[in-house]
Amino acid sequence: MILGTGGTIAGTAASADEAVGYQAAQLGVERLVAAVPPLAGLALECEQVAQLNSKDMTHAVWQRLAQRCAHHLARDDVAGVVVTHGTDTLEETAYFLHRVLAPAKPLVLTAAMRPATSMQADGPQNLLDAVTVARHGAALGWRGVMAVLAATVHAAVDVRKVHGWRLDAFDSGDAGPVGAVVAGALQRLRDVPTCAPVGLGAIARDVGQWPRVEVVASHAGASGRVVDALVADGVDGLVVAATGFGDVHAEVLAALERARARGVAVAIATRCAYGPVIDAATRAVDARTPWQMRIDLLLERLRAG
Ligand code: SIN
Repeated sequence: MILGTGGTIAGTAASADEAVGYQAAQLGVERLVAAVPPLAGLALECEQVAQLNSKDMTHAVWQRLAQRCAHHLARDDVAGVVVTHGTDTLEETAYFLHRVLAPAKPLVLTAAMRPATSMQADGPQNLLDAVTVARHGAALGWRGVMAVLAATVHAAVDVRKVHGWRLDAFDSGDAGPVGAVVAGALQRLRDVPTCAPVGLGAIARDVGQWPRVEVVASHAGASGRVVDALVADGVDGLVVAATGFGDVHAEVLAALERARARGVAVAIATRCAYGPVIDAATRAVDARTPWQMRIDLLLERLRAG
């Protein structure tokens, strides 16, 4: 099952050498599949769940996508699901689906760094590789949410976009990828981490009623005014993109204490690309990115009602 949501993989430009000035989310998912000759003859179905540039991803699209993924994954005749997506927020959607569904079959997100009209289009190969993982990944023990880009298989908990323009723009942080697609063959390096999913029931509420969780940054010259303004505006949760292994500017820290006192949930992640937050007292480590932590706080608050 291939679910389309838009992105550069479905983007078009005026000329084949245009890799930056293009419109994302122009082609339907059937067109993307038709552009990959080796997919012809496979038992594939397509469904267009959304058509957007993923920088504009919404909770409403997430809710619908999770419902459609769950629907198709429950079908006996479906081995796995592929989601075509934009690269910008792919890691957030992957983590959201992981935390909500943690499916027992492969659920594979893919994307492209070049539009479909580019002479360097990477979408067709990425889509073919993603279908290969969706069809055959379970035989290697790969179950759950993954992302397949540039012949590399990433787990949803680890995948992140690390480059704005290169074709090989994703990595899996310190954990490394779970495997690769080498000329059509799957190479397994390790398991796909799983989790206890929160389930569709937790996200069933109208998205207009979902809690508000925002990300703020700790940085040189920071004041606590952004935090104070968000609290005054009714925010429910705050994630701080902290420096180093979890340090927060004293002014921001003071504002966070004020926020906590008003009942706002506060969580600390690191703005570093590599390395976890480390609790100095317990030595516990937490490798979640600020965006992952925002999703966890959101789901926690949704579950709490
Ligand atoms: C998007 O995220 O939808 C646009 C950028 C991309 O897919 O590379």
